[in-house]
Amino acid sequence: MPTPHIGAEKGDFAKTLIMPGDPLRAKYIAENFISNAKQVNEVRGMLGYTGTYNGKQVSVMASGMGMPSMGIYSYELFKFYDVESIIRIGTAGAISEKLKLRDIVLAMSCATNSNFASQYRLPGVPAPTSDYGLLKTAEEQAKKHGINAYVGSVFCSDTFYNDSYSVADWRKLGVLAIEMESAALYLNAARTGKKALCICTISDCPLTGESCSAEERQLTFDDMIKIALDCVQ
Ligand code: HPA
Repeated sequence: MPTPHIGAEKGDFAKTLIMPGDPLRAKYIAENFISNAKQVNEVRGMLGYTGTYNGKQVSVMASGMGMPSMGIYSYELFKFYDVESIIRIGTAGAISEKLKLRDIVLAMSCATNSNFASQYRLPGVPAPTSDYGLLKTAEEQAKKHGINAYVGSVFCSDTFYNDSYSVADWRKLGVLAIEMESAALYLNAARTGKKALCICTISDCPLTGESCSAEERQLTFDDMIKIALDCVQ
């Protein structure tokens, strides 16, 4: 049965779903990496597809940008479509000085300035964390492809344009990069007993002003797709 934001029928999604932010990236993955891809969602242009990769069922659907959008789609996919694992693939800004453009980060955990978790009325601060099995597999697959992946924490921000704080403050805690969706994904996975991982490519360095060209983004995007698809069980 369709949800308010997804038009697919129950059973239209595979157990593992790859989730880029941009719907056109979802289309690109479906057209170039997935066999027999069938479009299962187009509500609000948030394109979703299901097909096979190496003989295994897999879906791909976009999340949109930011935690509210990721929060809606990942919740509905986990809760109403029986999706077991969501692997986000997206871009991030470098915080750590050791990261360069096009480096890949596997987000083990995330710090956040979002109040997404206030809904749980916890007597403390939760720690949004990736699934260890997915993280371990992704690290192994990256190595297999000869791709160097950094594993650590990211800062999941509610704002892209920020009037006050400096992302450099997060270096004190060893945070690697800044992005905008992982915390909602990890908290929804925790709340529903499901699995999640966020794989990021460094597309820009907010502290130096450097950023990737469109062509460079495409190349690293393909690296992330390979790692994510090789995590499909
Ligand atoms: N900030 C937040 N999200 C991002 C950035 C950034 O600099 N780059 C890519 N995603």
